[in-house]
Amino acid sequence: MTFTIPRGTQDILPEDIEKWYLIESSAKSLFKLFNFREIRTPIFENTDLFARGVGEESDIFNKEMYSFKDKGGRHLTLRPEGTAAVTRAMIQHNLHKKMNPLKLFYIGPFFRYERPQAGRYRQFHQIGVEYINEKSPYADAEIIALGYHLFESLGITDLKVCINSVGNAIARPVIEEMVKQFISANLSKLPTHIQHKFNDNPLRILDSKDESVQAYIAGMPDIKNALTQESKDHFFSVLQHLDEMKIPYEVTHTLVRGLEYYTETVFEIVSDHLGAQNTVCGGGRYNNLSKELNGPDLGAVGFGFGIERTIMLLDHVKKEINSSIDVYLIPLDSLSRDHLFYVMHKLRGLNISCEIGYSENLKSQLKKANQIHAKRVIIMGEEERNKEVVEYKDMFNRTQESVPLDKIVEIVNNDFAYNQVIFA
Ligand code: HAM
Repeated sequence: MTFTIPRGTQDILPEDIEKWYLIESSAKSLFKLFNFREIRTPIFENTDLFARGVGEESDIFNKEMYSFKDKGGRHLTLRPEGTAAVTRAMIQHNLHKKMNPLKLFYIGPFFRYERPQAGRYRQFHQIGVEYINEKSPYADAEIIALGYHLFESLGITDLKVCINSVGNAIARPVIEEMVKQFISANLSKLPTHIQHKFNDNPLRILDSKDESVQAYIAGMPDIKNALTQESKDHFFSVLQHLDEMKIPYEVTHTLVRGLEYYTETVFEIVSDHLGAQNTVCGGGRYNNLSKELNGPDLGAVGFGFGIERTIMLLDHVKKEINSSIDVYLIPLDSLSRDHLFYVMHKLRGLNISCEIGYSENLKSQLKKANQIHAKRVIIMGEEERNKEVVEYKDMFNRTQESVPLDKIVEIVNNDFAYNQVIFA
């Protein structure tokens, strides 16, 4: 019997890992620029957190959670998303009293029992941010700009930012009634899973991916007519700030998002290159979640984006991401190996990445240097050893020179001096 991974999960192999590093490091440098700090919460939480957090009527809570009882009889759930857990941690550790502004990010695996397909997994990875304790529309705009720049910094620009507002708790029942009124006459003509949502969670009908449903609801009056003046002002301020930063967006009247905690601004970043799962990033404001979890009354806004879907977009822009090594050392006999092993040790101490070949065949070693994208190659055989030199090869410019053995470390170090420079 051979063992394979569970359905809906994937191994991240060394050949793909550079893409993960690239996404994580690009995100982390932007988070630093925007003053976000990392938080790490457990992979599992008490199930009640998600009942309150993502909402008992949501698909995530009803159908997609990996929940189990531990040996002590506790009801636990593998986290399906990060916002509820971060809010729980914020309340538990009084972070809102310790950090101002409270801007947090997280990176890690999340779990949803969904039907696997391209871009949809049961274990997937999200990078998320939460800007807590700030109700200003500037915070919404900052978050959306951060999301947009994140993809831009990866060379992914063929994206659409869709934005809408679902208003506050006062507007919600009015919007639900609007949706029901619009749909009731034709309810029997809509798919049965939509009919089920009619009573339980009518807003989710707007979020349906079903094309026939989308075509039908396109004719619905704008839900923003039901918003209070305050909510309308907030939304238009967000749009104005986005305009000032030249972040392109499209107001999408039917966008509501699938998690129940959203209030006011909701947004998604979508791409035509992702197939059916076309949303790479989703987020919005959630002013009531902290209160809902018995915490203080704090406004917050954030987003999460899927790393797997971002990789699909990276592949589409064909961004060349190679793992590379600074120097590959090729000794052609055992005595030369002793010399080059010492050179390698010195170079690594200078922050220059190195690898050494142990076969004595020059041709196959040069092939290997190419395969691992070595920038420079150092070769030593009997002839060089007798002359106390090495051959130093630049793999980009295809040039080669003989340099004294006792100078090679210094020469390579000068070559890689740019390693130290962060900003020129
Ligand atoms: P979400 O829309 O459920 O929002 O997920 C955010 C992103 O995670 C999606 O746009 C997608 O890229 C990725 N994702 C979700 N489910 C899967 C899956 N099964 N397979 C692969 N990728 C997936 C949230 O989770 C909110 N917590 C975001 C947020 C943060 N809102 C405010 N703050």
